[in-house]
Amino acid sequence: MPKPPAQFGGASAGWGVGGMMCLLCASACITVATALTPSPEPVSHPQTPELDQQFWKVLQSGDYEQISSVEIPIKAAYLEQPRDPVLAAKLGFLHAWRVTERARLKEVGPDITDDLSMAQRYFHAAHRLEPDNPIYHGFYAAYALADATIHDDPKRLTQAGLESRNAIRAWPEFNLFTFAYLTHALPYDDQRNADAVADLDDIIHRCIGDAPPSSASDFAQALDRSTHAPDERQRRACGNTDKVPFNIQGFMLNLGDTLVRQGDLERAQFVYETLQQTAEHAAWPFHAITETRLQNLQVNVGRFQKNPPRGTPYINPTDRAMFHSSIACVGCHQAAEAP
Ligand code: HEC
Repeated sequence: MPKPPAQFGGASAGWGVGGMMCLLCASACITVATALTPSPEPVSHPQTPELDQQFWKVLQSGDYEQISSVEIPIKAAYLEQPRDPVLAAKLGFLHAWRVTERARLKEVGPDITDDLSMAQRYFHAAHRLEPDNPIYHGFYAAYALADATIHDDPKRLTQAGLESRNAIRAWPEFNLFTFAYLTHALPYDDQRNADAVADLDDIIHRCIGDAPPSSASDFAQALDRSTHAPDERQRRACGNTDKVPFNIQGFMLNLGDTLVRQGDLERAQFVYETLQQTAEHAAWPFHAITETRLQNLQVNVGRFQKNPPRGTPYINPTDRAMFHSSIACVGCHQAAEAP
């Protein structure tokens, strides 16, 4: 049987001086060699625009059951062109959607965690192909954090934590939300939940350019103005847009839920009342939830603090924090009417 060549570290490399040197610098060599390997240039698959359109149609219709029907053609195209960042990211988002809104499933088995790992896999591909895209970077870091936690991998956790900081620096208004949202997966008394409230407040400050006004109607109007912010990045992260028709409403629902979980009912009430007064609240497909939240402030503290055990199917989003519910993604992304 032919021996593998020495440069691949095969048996013929032996245990001489070279072999020892190689052992001593093995991990440094790997790091250097990896860093010197060029990254591939992104290439677009000819079907991407059409597949992208199909993806948005399914997400904005909130049609969770159709995830596979769009995932399979996108995966086939990605395998033909694995250098397409848009296809890679869309696969990441589909796996992310499936695992995040698992409350919709009749039965949730332990294999649902594979979607989380695959989301990380595809977000990593998208990030590698478009390193300067802060959305891909943030989602890659977020799913890497989740994956490292599930698989109890402290080294990956440290790495993903550092990645998350870089992603936040690249687009704070957007990525601070991604990480604040994830803290719902932690026990409620973990310090990072309180930090999440500070981060959500920081986003508001950046989005409305000031501290929130003390009246709910003024606060609602200030939030609504971000839909028309002159700065494109601010408008996209803070306002309601074609891609995210109810971003403001989903953001405020999660802020209220995060405060309830922290037991700060006074502020939570103010936040839900503000949400109710935002211009597009009535058009939001989930507007009925706001009133239920206001009626159940006290009882929701216990409900939101107790994370539902992985595997509990439950379709009703009214008594679960948004993050754990069937509207964890579509709460912001579902359009008023199916596109
Ligand atoms: C608080 C509201 C909110 C929630 C919740 C939310 N998103 Fe988004 N999403 C946004 C915003 C804001 C953007 C940025 C839009 C832009 O770039 O114009 C975005 C961007 C996206 C994009 C487009 C990325 C791109 O490549 O341009 C996809 C796809 C997406 N989200 C899917 C999801 C999925 C899946 C979930 C659930 C795991 C989710 N979102 C949860 C607000 C939200």
